[in-house]
Amino acid sequence: MEAMTLLHERSSMGKLAGPVPDREQLDALYRAALRAPDHKELMPWRFIEFSGTGLDRLGELFAESEAHSNPQADEKQLESTRKKPKRAPLIIAVIARVTPDLAKVPPIEQVLSAGCAAHAIVLAAQAQGLGAMWRTGSFAFDPVVREGLGLAEHDAIVGFIYLGQPGGRFRTPPVRDPADFVECWS
Ligand SMILES: Cc1cc2nc3c(=O)[nH]c(=O)nc-3n(C[C@H](O)[C@H](O)[C@H](O)COP(=O)(O)O)c2cc1C
Repeated sequence: MEAMTLLHERSSMGKLAGPVPDREQLDALYRAALRAPDHKELMPWRFIEFSGTGLDRLGELFAESEAHSNPQADEKQLESTRKKPKRAPLIIAVIARVTPDLAKVPPIEQVLSAGCAAHAIVLAAQAQGLGAMWRTGSFAFDPVVREGLGLAEHDAIVGFIYLGQPGGRFRTPPVRDPADFVECWS
């Protein structure tokens, strides 16, 4: 797909099916992510890839977090939470590995860099005919999930990128007029 078309027309795909993207496609996604803009070359990125039983383990962690934050949750609710990662054959958790107290690169810049890496994954997925959906939900900010994924104190989960074969048609993206967003000082 031509680069400008991809940038103008990228769309999320919530309906995702198997088969799991192959290793070559995944490597291409990561290589795109690893070109995220990165002040001082800190490479503040970490990726955890879940597929197969890995998705079950992530679902278990989500259910544990739900039970912790909502002790009223019954088994039916927990089971529905447990199944959430199964909405895709593969998920990549994108984590900002943040070094605090750097004079020139405050934490927000490191998190932004990881956000750019996440967007690169989403774009590179669509460029290869895959579908992708960036999700956070409450789980990205939950202490149980953070601990389960091994985050350090200042790290952040910037997203769970759900990936797979598109299970439907990509929606036609809304047309937005740059003039509504851009102020020119010329
Ligand atoms: C940081 C971040 C977190 C998001 N979390 C969720 C989420 O938890 N659930 C959801 O339905 N969409 C979430 N979205 C939005 C979707 O990824 C998507 O952008 C939105 O549905 C609009 O579709 P589009 O990307 O095709 O314009 C999130 C987006 C970002 C950037």
